[in-house]
Amino acid sequence: MRIKYTISVIFIVALVIIEKENNIISKVSDKLTPRLTPLTPRLTLVTPLTPLPSTNDSERLQSSTGSLLDSTAGQRHVLLLAGTRTGSSFVGEFFNQLGPEVFYLFEPLWHVERMLTVESGGTNASVAAPAYRDVLRQLLLCNFSLLEDFMEPRPQEHVTAALFRRESSRALCEEPVCTLPARREFERYRCRVRRCGPLNLTLAGQSCLQRRHRVIKTVRVRQLETLRPLAEDPRLHMRFIQLVRDPRAVLASRMVAFSSRYRSWQRWAAGEELPLDQDEVRKLRANCDNIRMSAELGLQQPAWLRGRYMLVRYEDIARFPMRKAAEMYAFTGIPFTAQAEQWILKNTQASQEASGVYSTQKNSSQQVEKWRRSVSFRLVQLVQEECSATMRLFGYRPAENQQMLSDTSLSLIEDRTFL
Ligand SMILES: *[C@@H]1O[C@H](CO)[C@@H](O)[C@H](O)[C@H]1NC(C)=O
Ligand SMILES: *[C@@H]1O[C@H](CO)[C@@H](O)[C@H](O)[C@H]1NC(C)=O
Ligand SMILES: *[C@@H]1O[C@H](CO)[C@@H](O)[C@H](O)[C@H]1NC(C)=O
Ligand SMILES: *[C@@H]1O[C@H](CO)[C@@H](O)[C@H](O)[C@H]1NC(C)=O
Ligand SMILES: *[C@@H]1O[C@H](CO)[C@@H](O)[C@H](O)[C@H]1NC(C)=O
Repeated sequence: MRIKYTISVIFIVALVIIEKENNIISKVSDKLTPRLTPLTPRLTLVTPLTPLPSTNDSERLQSSTGSLLDSTAGQRHVLLLAGTRTGSSFVGEFFNQLGPEVFYLFEPLWHVERMLTVESGGTNASVAAPAYRDVLRQLLLCNFSLLEDFMEPRPQEHVTAALFRRESSRALCEEPVCTLPARREFERYRCRVRRCGPLNLTLAGQSCLQRRHRVIKTVRVRQLETLRPLAEDPRLHMRFIQLVRDPRAVLASRMVAFSSRYRSWQRWAAGEELPLDQDEVRKLRANCDNIRMSAELGLQQPAWLRGRYMLVRYEDIARFPMRKAAEMYAFTGIPFTAQAEQWILKNTQASQEASGVYSTQKNSSQQVEKWRRSVSFRLVQLVQEECSATMRLFGYRPAENQQMLSDTSLSLIEDRTFL
């Protein structure tokens, strides 16, 4: 009798323990496996060694026969495509901060654009687009030699002190790429956290090859279509993330950042009767059209893009940074790291709520819609006319009058999941 009783107690205790463990395990895997929205169909959390479903049969064959020791297994090449003032530097950090597996470059095309800028200002797209594409391809393959052709001054023996925003790339500021500067150079070549000598691009290329994943952020690609050859290059395992933001907020931000260029707009926005620079209006519209056309292409999922394209709104990242970061990592197949999680927590003031870290909301949507209190309805109306199709596609609701614009308790961001 006693033995029977003891056995049942042990049995129950064991059940309880198993149940608890299950709970813990499922909690942990909840944490590790971000719940995916329909944005990323068919993809579950992808570890670096799991081949992704591929649209290209021969590529799929290759990766499924590749051994676990194959250094390119699970390798990812990511382009973060955005416009200016869309928060792309911030989102780029989500990848820059991932750790030693990732080689991240910040706006390398700056050099290409500068060299190709024509006298009247701007670039000729039919010249710039192929140049951007070729430089990106070479960089994703860890070869800086084509970029060197566009650098001014030209690197000497592959060494330069002039790479644009080198300090924004951790890989270029860490061992072994960061070498101690000679004493007389000490003040000149500084990374954020340490002093480094001039940049040896051969060394940078070698370090790039040592890292499994490569990520480049750029605001200079106008049309996703122009990057099709990269998606089709079997040496690259491309993922494209297009980052978009409410064009009204972008314009408000540009008017602060480049205030001298927008002086007449400021006066016009304040109600003065003066002719608006039609060139700038055309640029505004062209910019919105380019962003929309790229997104429409991506969302249509032509065969060459299938499983390779993700659309992200800046507003969603600002409100749900951890959740959106997890979605982006899951989509690219690059594992989330504790280091990145720490960085995001620290830099978004996301608080840990009972519902779990992935549902945390950056301070508030108020932060995201702050621009609404600093722009006039007249300006907003102009953007809403020039960019109406773009705004509709991304779920940015038009403001009908000044009152609706300034009442931030009424959100102008519709909930959307794309795809
Ligand atoms: C698929 O990849 C192979 C190399 O792995 C390449 O030769 C072929 O052109 C690709 N096909 C398509 C349709 O992209
Ligand atoms: C852009 O470059 C192409 C090729 O060099 C040329 O044919 C075209 O006329 C140029 N367009 C403009 C607007 O300069
Ligand atoms: C880099 O690419 C250039 C051609 O653009 C080629 O000549 C060179 O050998 C490549 N370097 C490496 C290390 O592959
Ligand atoms: C740059 O790094 C490469 C690879 O380590 C090395 O062979 C070369 O000598 C370095 N160049 C200079 C000028 O130090
Ligand atoms: C959120 O932002 C508001 C101002 O926009 C500030 O007063 C408040 O303290 C912030 N809350 C948190 C939790 O950071």
